[in-house]
Amino acid sequence: MTTPFPRYHITTFGCQMNKADSERMAGILEDMGFEYSEDPNQAKIILYNTCTIRDNAEQKVYSHLGRQADRKRKEPDLVLVMAGCVAQQEGESLLRRVPELDLVMGPQHANRLKDLLQQVFDGNQVVATESIHILEDITKPRRDSKATAWVNVIYGCNERCTYCVVPNVRGVEQSRTPAAIRAEMEELGQQGYKEVTLLGQNIDAYGRDLPGTTPEGRHLNTLTDLLYYVHDVPGIERIRFATSHPRYFTERLIKACAELPKVCEHFHIPFQSGDNEILKRMSRGYTQEKYRRIIDTIRKYMPDASISADAIVGFPGETEEQFENTLKLVDDIGFDLLNTAAYSPRPGTPAAVWEEQLSEEVKKDRLQRLNHLVNIKAYTRSQRYMERIEEVLVEDQNPKDAMQVMGRTRGNRLTFFTGNINQLKGQIVQVKINEVRAFSLTGEVVGKVLTGCSSY
Ligand code: SAH
Ligand code: SF4
Ligand code: F3S
Repeated sequence: MTTPFPRYHITTFGCQMNKADSERMAGILEDMGFEYSEDPNQAKIILYNTCTIRDNAEQKVYSHLGRQADRKRKEPDLVLVMAGCVAQQEGESLLRRVPELDLVMGPQHANRLKDLLQQVFDGNQVVATESIHILEDITKPRRDSKATAWVNVIYGCNERCTYCVVPNVRGVEQSRTPAAIRAEMEELGQQGYKEVTLLGQNIDAYGRDLPGTTPEGRHLNTLTDLLYYVHDVPGIERIRFATSHPRYFTERLIKACAELPKVCEHFHIPFQSGDNEILKRMSRGYTQEKYRRIIDTIRKYMPDASISADAIVGFPGETEEQFENTLKLVDDIGFDLLNTAAYSPRPGTPAAVWEEQLSEEVKKDRLQRLNHLVNIKAYTRSQRYMERIEEVLVEDQNPKDAMQVMGRTRGNRLTFFTGNINQLKGQIVQVKINEVRAFSLTGEVVGKVLTGCSSY
């Protein structure tokens, strides 16, 4: 197909949702006949899929955009697209800030990219940020990995955590049907993908907006039901899900994970703070005691499960003592991985206008202290892998050592070992671990390939 703009480029910022959206938008662009270009300067359609979770995430896009806006003044046929969460947050005002933009589109409009570009090609400057029902995906995503894939199960978020911009930019919860999710997974299985991560900002809310309640009032479409429903998809060997919310995390879900062999023993359950007063002011809807009970229950059913989470330090009004409660929780639980962040006031969120904002200095100091503890705990957690045989799904070459490949254990630990990527990509192999670091492992292949038809 000949087009006036044969090449496109996408840069993605932010979370897995954005990455999944970018893969679908890339699929749409390829379907329209455009080809991917790694280098934005070789591309005629440039799309930035943006994140606004913290101020530094938001600022990242503007320097990229500035460079391309300069280029556009010399090459007027360049098409500049701002998609994602900054686009949704800022809307039309972006056109005043960067008049060179052709299209500003919120995350809910990702599947409509073709229509929106058509309007641009017709000579319009387009803003698509109104709230809509997300169209079921009809285009094949252009997936980055050949081994693991993301599958959206619920869009949006109905929570109102007082620090968080996500509900403003991602809209209300909207679950996909179990049938659509299963169909996507079956196709992935046929294409040779081995691992699927089911995605939602609050995945425990899955199904609340779908019909299907028993006479006793129980929902038939919970995340637990979905796991049972998709578990036997042929070819898919591993299932993960993220992100879990402690407020809704159930023992029934934990039991299902223990019972279903394909569901990996890895849980990502952000706690945000270890202090009950702060949790209350964050509107999280649970206490640190409840969070500890959830982890205890997981470990009762799956003693080796790996646990990761997110935490925020320096929330408005957080005292030294309250911060120490976060340290205490981290010390007691021992996370395999913790994403930490200093609180960043976000436009349109309640906590942003509270008076007791902490200084950058205090936030930075707390972040460093927390990160220090996280490293020590993760290193301790890693020790249990030493000399153990782990199943690793090979994803890629080690970018720092071409003799090595890398993949993940069921517990989601990044693992390196000597091997040929052409033979091993997408294979699950048994690796004996002989070196451990806080967040990664090294080992050697000991077992045969467990699945697939590799020539290895
Ligand atoms: N839906 C998930 C996470 C969404 S955002 C959840 O409910 O946990 C990812 C992480 O970014 C959050 O877990 C939180 O730790 C962090 N985050 C969100 N808003 C933030 C803010 N204003 N400042 C600092 N970190 C923030
Ligand atoms: Fe944000 Fe809270 Fe929703 Fe997570 S659950 S996306 S932190 S509002
Ligand atoms: Fe960022 Fe939007 Fe995800 S704000 S973290 S890209 S939902």
